[in-house]
Amino acid sequence: MAEVLPLPVAEPSPEDRPVLVLDCGGQYAQLIARRVREARVYSELVPHSITAAEARARQPRALVLSGGPASVYAAGAPKVDPELFTLGVPTLGICYGMQLMAQELGGSVERTGVSEFGKTEVRVDGECALFAGLPEEQTGWMSHRDSVAAPPSGARVTAGSPAAQIAAFEDPERLLYGVQFHPEVVHTPHGQEVLKNFLYGVADAPPTWTAAAVIEEQVERIRAQVGSARVLCALSGGVDSAVAALLVHKAVGDQLVCVFVDHGLLRKDEAVQVVETFEGHFHVPLVHVSAAERFLTRLDGVADPEQKRKAVGEEFIRVFEEESKRLGEIKYLVQGTLYSDVIESGGDASVAATIKSHHNVGGLPEDMEMELVEPLRLLFKDEVRRVGEELGLPERMVWRQPFPGPGLAIRIIGEVTRERLEILREADAILQEEIRRAGLYRALWQSFAVLPAIRSVGVQGDERTYGYPVVVRAVTSDDAMTADWARLPYDLLETISSRIVNEVPAVNRVVLDITSKPPSTIEWE
Ligand code: XMP
Repeated sequence: MAEVLPLPVAEPSPEDRPVLVLDCGGQYAQLIARRVREARVYSELVPHSITAAEARARQPRALVLSGGPASVYAAGAPKVDPELFTLGVPTLGICYGMQLMAQELGGSVERTGVSEFGKTEVRVDGECALFAGLPEEQTGWMSHRDSVAAPPSGARVTAGSPAAQIAAFEDPERLLYGVQFHPEVVHTPHGQEVLKNFLYGVADAPPTWTAAAVIEEQVERIRAQVGSARVLCALSGGVDSAVAALLVHKAVGDQLVCVFVDHGLLRKDEAVQVVETFEGHFHVPLVHVSAAERFLTRLDGVADPEQKRKAVGEEFIRVFEEESKRLGEIKYLVQGTLYSDVIESGGDASVAATIKSHHNVGGLPEDMEMELVEPLRLLFKDEVRRVGEELGLPERMVWRQPFPGPGLAIRIIGEVTRERLEILREADAILQEEIRRAGLYRALWQSFAVLPAIRSVGVQGDERTYGYPVVVRAVTSDDAMTADWARLPYDLLETISSRIVNEVPAVNRVVLDITSKPPSTIEWE
């Protein structure tokens, strides 16, 4: 009789076997999810209230319990389903998560009166899988008032610090691990290695979540979703819509049509770049709508910032609707919703879409009856960039700093005119060029020029001038919620200033904005 050979079983895709990060109320839960993905293992953020049955249904590679601000003994402190610990799934508790494990599994947590905040010397046991190959003395970043006084029953203590005798524990039989310090923050120099040890060494999770794998997976999903139907995508020039469009194009080719509404409020050469990249290089079907005249007419006489936003937003929707009508029946609309939008909205797709459109002009009509294709829904921003690079998107687009939907309209303080747009565009182009030349472009969250519509007196040669000032605005930030003004080198500022006043005749003064957010905002309007 012939031998019966088992059929080869397809490797599950990374998304089918996620690492679930249980959010115990810490500001670090999202950071943990990102760090896990940086180790090329797919992770998702889930509420701490997830039940063991729900978790099991996801077939997780591992569970990570995040830190959190509460004390495990406080009324209303986040709890997790104790059944989670019986699933046989490798589990790592971090800070509060570790304390929860101790409390639930027969150990104890106490307020010892000694808190640890900041960098702490930790002594680790190299026999523990978490610390394999790492120095026995290392720095761990701590933030805790309570301490684990007894590890879970059956667990072994594997690290200690001056104020926390039990800074880590392990129960390899049950695959349960805990660390008091935060491996996910940069202040823990070996933190990422600790996470990798857990993911690769304990959970046996393969590092397969790569840009190439994301592309392959998304292409399949998009094909399955849209079949042979047509898909519409609004391009803005930003990285999200660019990557979303390229993914859809890779999946369904010319079933995709992109609409690029050029409102005439972009920076120098930006519109040309969008057209060249998509039409010229990627051969994506593209409708390029040069609507600068329409927007300028609409903005005529408008000086109030919110009125400008409204004008640009409404006009954008009108133009987009007209164009999509012209294109006939299209069933699907691409939306560049990111994973962070999904998390912010509690996982609700329609809320996520609203948040997105609220942030962006490019906000699409609400009553368009199209189904959404959201190829970036699983990705953090840095992952979108990596996918963009892998797809061959030019560096300039991949790493473009955030740019507001209403564009230069809200960087001209006062009425928007063709002349002022031209002046601002030239000044801004010089600033961008010099910032890039100095190698600072990526380090800055945003850097741009602002044109207040006032004039001041100057002197050039023998003549008095009466010209515009240009404001240099450059900030560092992580998320635009707060920002610090960037300490640009004096030499660079000098070059920017002298080039702008020499090369842009209408400008006779350059000033630097040295305010942070708060109390200022990043934009001037
Ligand atoms: P502010 O000026 O409020 O900006 O500190 C925070 C971030 O949001 C961007 N921004 C906008 N983006 N439409 C947008 O798409 C807008 O109306 C808008 N206003 C501000 C800003 O560039 C910064 O990144």
